[in-house]
Amino acid sequence: MAFDRNIKIAPSILASDFANFGAEIRAIEAQGADWVHVDVMDGHFVPNLTFGPPAVKAFRPHVKTFMDVHLMIAPVDPYIEAYAAAGADMITAHVEAGPHIHRTLQAIKAQGVKAGVSLNPGTPLESIEHVMDLVDMVLIMTVNPGFGGQKFIHSGVDKTRRVREMIGDRDIYIQIDGGVDVTTAPLVAAAGADVLVAGSAVFKGGSVDQPEVYGENIRAIRAAAEAAI
Ligand code: DX5
Ligand code: ZN
Repeated sequence: MAFDRNIKIAPSILASDFANFGAEIRAIEAQGADWVHVDVMDGHFVPNLTFGPPAVKAFRPHVKTFMDVHLMIAPVDPYIEAYAAAGADMITAHVEAGPHIHRTLQAIKAQGVKAGVSLNPGTPLESIEHVMDLVDMVLIMTVNPGFGGQKFIHSGVDKTRRVREMIGDRDIYIQIDGGVDVTTAPLVAAAGADVLVAGSAVFKGGSVDQPEVYGENIRAIRAAAEAAI
């Protein structure tokens, strides 16, 4: 996938029907999703549990776009190989998940997949300053990770602006995750974000039997973001 700065919408399947992942993934892609965001939680780094590598492997054949795997797990290093083998196109690890983010990002790159680094809302930007040459994406959390449907934390907007400055002319995406909807998407897009994760705001009101609602939601978020650039 070639790098570009167009707005990309990455629905989080955390907000989809857990009995129907294959059909949900096919529906959001048919309705205009650019990436598929997979939230992996371990009940330790975050207070919730979701998908092991076998689940991610089962999603893979349904994803025709780009499978973006957000690891909210600690430790992370022992599981990188398994999530890469499961078919992740990008693996994002949290800077707070261990003492050696540089080693973690090297391990992700060694698997031949794209590497993302994520920051919780309370984590300062200095923590990623020295790994910028190792990453394909910076994920700025705008909620405390663990659950969908939380309220957007506004300090992420200024953080986005500062990450955009840190990136300079490098080909690094800025992804925003948490509470993204038609009201908050323009704020982060104007600040320099290009990949918007949205769970509730994409899946609300729709279903695999009414997928056109997903399309309306995706188009509304994209239009709001693009209008702000
Ligand atoms: C939170 C996850 C998010 C979450 C976003 O821990 O990383 O991806 O699913 O959900 P919404 O868009 O509902 O805030
Ligand atoms: Zn996420």
